Amino acid sequence: MSDKAISGFAAFIDRKSREAAAAELPPYATELEQPLDRMTTIGSPWTERLFDGLFYLSPLPPRLPACHLIFVQSRDGNTGARNPQTLGGGETDKHLIYEGLTRVSADAVLAGASTVRGGSMVFSVWHPELVRLRHALGQPRHPVQIIATRRGVPIDRERLYNIPELRLVLLTAPGGIAAMREALAERPWITSIVVDAGFTLADAFEQMRAMGIERISAVGGRGLAAELIDAALVQDLYLTTSPLPGGEPGTPIYPRPLDLRTVVRKRGTLHEAGVLFEHSLLPPTSRIHSR
Ligand SMILES: NC(=O)c1ccc[n+]([C@@H]2O[C@H](COP(=O)([O-])OP(=O)(O)OC[C@H]3O[C@@H](n4cnc5c(N)ncnc54)[C@H](OP(=O)(O)O)[C@@H]3O)[C@@H](O)[C@H]2O)c1
Repeated sequence: MSDKAISGFAAFIDRKSREAAAAELPPYATELEQPLDRMTTIGSPWTERLFDGLFYLSPLPPRLPACHLIFVQSRDGNTGARNPQTLGGGETDKHLIYEGLTRVSADAVLAGASTVRGGSMVFSVWHPELVRLRHALGQPRHPVQIIATRRGVPIDRERLYNIPELRLVLLTAPGGIAAMREALAERPWITSIVVDAGFTLADAFEQMRAMGIERISAVGGRGLAAELIDAALVQDLYLTTSPLPGGEPGTPIYPRPLDLRTVVRKRGTLHEAGVLFEHSLLPPTSRIHSR
């Protein structure tokens, strides 16, 4: 990697960390807290004060990584937006939940290609309190970055694929591999897993668990989320609903109603009054694998 790229990533980390540390984060107030017995808990005095309690995660399933979805939606249920922050979930959602509690213990973050395309994102934790908590949990500085792309992504052009200290997994298809072959050959820090008719998303998840990836934070978009739900690979949904209408019309997380069991519900306070955060479980019956 060139010196320019290294200093570019260092400057990026510095900017993200300063932004996170400077954000004003009104605390949440708990309305419902009914976790199941075997759930994992996460928290530090700082997160517990802002989140008004511990954060819960489902236990690891056998053979597969645990996987949760983290989304923000407008009041009228849309998730599509070039910058999902404009949907109005607020700063506490962004810094404490999205780039925080859902990610702090995750081995990997998973995103669909449309969510990363054109952006210069890296999925990690940035607030100094969360960086400390991630370190205390024994996790490396950055989660593995998993990008799903059947067609392939512009590896030469985007920051995400050009930082050797970031472990990257591409979930792709035979056509994607063909399109990216040369670029991949030059980047040993990227692992490709080919998903096709004979090797499903569930098989890819099993392979990732064997690689040491035990917990995945899936950040969308809804296209990938629906596939993960349909493949019964998701245990938890962390959903923040904004008090504002908006987003691209007709872009719900999932095209049909989901039968969810809500275990935690919190409300935003102060200038984020009206924000609703819910942690819900997908029904266990939809998570039984045939294999
Ligand atoms: N509100 C939120 O919380 C939130 C969160 C994330 C994103 N968003 C927004 O949602 C929009 C993007 O969502 P989206 O549903 O259009 O796209 P997406 O889910 O981000 O990405 C879809 C793409 O992922 C790849 N993909 C999906 N399933 C795959 C599989 N099984 N194997 C390999 N690759 C697979 C394909 O990439 P290729 O086309 O490369 O083949 C597909 O076109 C954007 O506006 C984004 O900003 C909102």
